[in-house]
Amino acid sequence: TSNLTQDTRGRPLRDLRISVTDRCNFRCTYCMPKEIFDQNYPYLSHQELLSFEEITRLSTIFATTGIEKIRLTGGEPLLRKNLEVLIAMLAKIRTPSGKQLDLTLTTNGSILRKKAAALKAAGLHRITVSLDGLDDAIFKKMNDVDFPVTDVLDGILAAQDVGFTDIKVNMVVKKGCNEHQILAMAKHFKGSGIILRFIEFMDVGSSNGWDMAQVVPSKDVIAQINTVFPLEPIEANYAGEVAQRWRYQDGSGEIGVISSVTQTFCHECTRARISTDGQMYLCLFANSGFDFKTLLRSGKSDLEIANAIMSTWSQRTDNYSEMRGSHPEEKISNGRKVEMSYIGG
Ligand code: GTP
Ligand code: 5AD
Ligand code: SF4
Ligand code: SF4
Repeated sequence: TSNLTQDTRGRPLRDLRISVTDRCNFRCTYCMPKEIFDQNYPYLSHQELLSFEEITRLSTIFATTGIEKIRLTGGEPLLRKNLEVLIAMLAKIRTPSGKQLDLTLTTNGSILRKKAAALKAAGLHRITVSLDGLDDAIFKKMNDVDFPVTDVLDGILAAQDVGFTDIKVNMVVKKGCNEHQILAMAKHFKGSGIILRFIEFMDVGSSNGWDMAQVVPSKDVIAQINTVFPLEPIEANYAGEVAQRWRYQDGSGEIGVISSVTQTFCHECTRARISTDGQMYLCLFANSGFDFKTLLRSGKSDLEIANAIMSTWSQRTDNYSEMRGSHPEEKISNGRKVEMSYIGG
């Protein structure tokens, strides 16, 4: 594989995560808490967003710099009008060696049932659905809106029905909130072909009141499931995979854990993020980005933009999760970190 650009820690640029909207119909307490994301919150206006043409052009240029995967995020990406049109545009991009990009999406599943067929037809390869529990009361405690779990499950079924075979479910585990749903979730998805992944609650953004005491370490999650359904570790699918994989010993599939607090993975982080308004962020915890929207709108050539991407990446030093705890936050990020809904999970 091509290895055109490495950052100061020798990490290549491989994944691009693009936030297509900063809005969401959920108010997950760990991401968009109601007190802050209320009707007075300064969401971006339509002119501030990158257009589909701009996202496609930028992605096409990124493809020349070595990326292999694009993940669309938000906010809730399916709230962006006609998202399937963008997906069809992105599906046409080829890498310098002629390969298609791995094209995927992270969604809360709330309108997936309605959208699944159009997403498949547009050329989306796979889907990751966030779901923090199977019990309506607990689900509500996590997302702070009244949305039935069955609608999300129906969205997942609809995705399977239209032919998506590579579906994952992400569950953020928060102590005192949904940790008692771990086994129920494991049971539900065991044998379904869907890969369930447990995510440690992280200190993203500045508004979710993060506290280490609310983190359930992944090793506890694995231990809990292992007592009921014996597990064994398996190899990563690719270098720098975020999740650690475990398979059920009875052959009924696999699960994953994402341990960005207790077992950091910055040393192989290959991800760049594009915010809803076209800023490139080199870390989920960065406090500022690089303004690619202005570059796109100022008549620069593709080559000039490609050079700007590579030069930005080559100066990258970020390793926030590895520093967490060892330094006061202010030293790393000047206190204010960017919100996850804007930069994309
Ligand atoms: P695959 O392509 O299926 O391997 O997906 P992925 O694990 O790369 O992406 P996904 O969006 O499913 O990531 C799941 C969660 O992991 C995100 O929502 C974040 O909570 C967390 N995560 C992903 N990337 C990073 C990262 O670079 N740093 C940190 N700290 N957390 C991340
Ligand atoms: N901690 C961990 N994961 C988070 N996400 C959002 N906020 C957090 C957080 N504080 C991730 C979840 C969710 C996706 C959209 O973003 O994985 O499923
Ligand atoms: Fe919306 Fe996802 Fe954030 Fe929840 S985690 S508020 S569903 S963007
Ligand atoms: Fe990458 Fe930053 Fe996450 Fe570390 S904290 S894995 S550098 S995005």
